[in-house]
Amino acid sequence: MPDLNVHLGDRGYDIRLAWRALDEEFARFASVRLPAGKTALLSDANVSPLYGDAAQAALEASGREVHRVTVPAGEGSKSFERLEGVLGELLHGRLDRSASLVALGGGVVGDLGGFAAAVFMRGIPFLMAPTSLLAQVDSSVGGKVAVNHPRAKNLVGLFRQPVGVLVDPATLVTLPGEEFTSGLAEAVKTAVILDGALFSWIEDHAGGIRSKTPDDLVHLIRRCLEIKAAVVAEDERERTGRRSLLNLGHTLGHALETAGGPSRFRHGEAVAVGMVFASRLAVETAGFPPAEAARVEALLDAFGLPVRIPEGFEPGTLLEIMRADKKNLGETIRFVLPRSIGEAELRGDVPESAILPGIEKMMA
Ligand SMILES: NC(=O)c1ccc[n+]([C@@H]2O[C@H](COP(=O)([O-])OP(=O)(O)OC[C@H]3O[C@@H](n4cnc5c(N)ncnc54)[C@H](O)[C@@H]3O)[C@@H](O)[C@H]2O)c1
Ligand SMILES: [Zn+2]
Repeated sequence: MPDLNVHLGDRGYDIRLAWRALDEEFARFASVRLPAGKTALLSDANVSPLYGDAAQAALEASGREVHRVTVPAGEGSKSFERLEGVLGELLHGRLDRSASLVALGGGVVGDLGGFAAAVFMRGIPFLMAPTSLLAQVDSSVGGKVAVNHPRAKNLVGLFRQPVGVLVDPATLVTLPGEEFTSGLAEAVKTAVILDGALFSWIEDHAGGIRSKTPDDLVHLIRRCLEIKAAVVAEDERERTGRRSLLNLGHTLGHALETAGGPSRFRHGEAVAVGMVFASRLAVETAGFPPAEAARVEALLDAFGLPVRIPEGFEPGTLLEIMRADKKNLGETIRFVLPRSIGEAELRGDVPESAILPGIEKMMA
């Protein structure tokens, strides 16, 4: 299958998507895109034992010296401390400005690795090899790299595009069920904001997706990446509002992640709850048909994603966190609201009087 491209001029890059691409195509893909110097292979403690050796062998096949760096698995690794640790390992491995980095893992490894590569020696090239569904449909493309601040997610980061993305859906076979489900939320999100036909396709193929049928996974990921690549090419730095659409469900979602801490919600789970909330707000304020809101909720629910705020969260606290969100302009909370399935808009005019009661109605 031909590569997908992110058309960004001299920052543009290819996305290779194929079943077993990590075994069969990684060596070539990496060798023509990375400089000849040392390569850091960043992964986490779950992914490294599964795919690290194959990736290392592929990189070494092109004559590169590989320095393995492994971080603990989980959102906790998107921290200043871990970033400093990774940078220390790169120095320890005597990587210099001719070096490069490969981020092999989920969104955490991608966000952390991309950020480390962007700031190490003022920036070395990096390549994404996403292994979670969430990273394969969303986070590996687009160049948003970040670590978390204790007060807010992704607060410290930058835009830095990778030099290539290699997606091997066969790695999803070992992805734990809940992590796979979490990634489905971002896929549903993509469909809701920009592709009604994809949404219907997901509804029709929910069984095949859940059972990780190769053809269904490749189709789902390909379509999500096509959309993401096009959006990023249009609005790389989230200036026109186009890329902001990808934040559907993320306003409440990030608040839930911040309030609950990383152990409470996976990213996609929080986004799922946030999407149901946004759908309901959209019914009230943006003319989103109630029947379509019901379809969104039903699909998320059918995948086993949460569609309510569980006990233990305080609506007032969530509202406060939403007010501090970096996606806002000034004091106004901005929401992405669907108008219909496949079409959404960024709105800064949702009345405050609708927000708090809306959150309260989402409590389980
Ligand atoms: N940069 C972006 O544009 C963007 C977009 C969406 C989300 N994100 C970020 O992505 C992060 C979430 O990513 P995630 O859900 O991939 O989390 P993650 O990286 O923590 O991966 C989830 C879990 O699955 C494990 N794992 C990954 N691949 C595996 C495989 N093939 N086999 C077995 N285990 C595997 C990981 O070790 C981890 O325990 C969040 O921090 C979120 O903010 C970033
Ligand atoms: Zn997200």
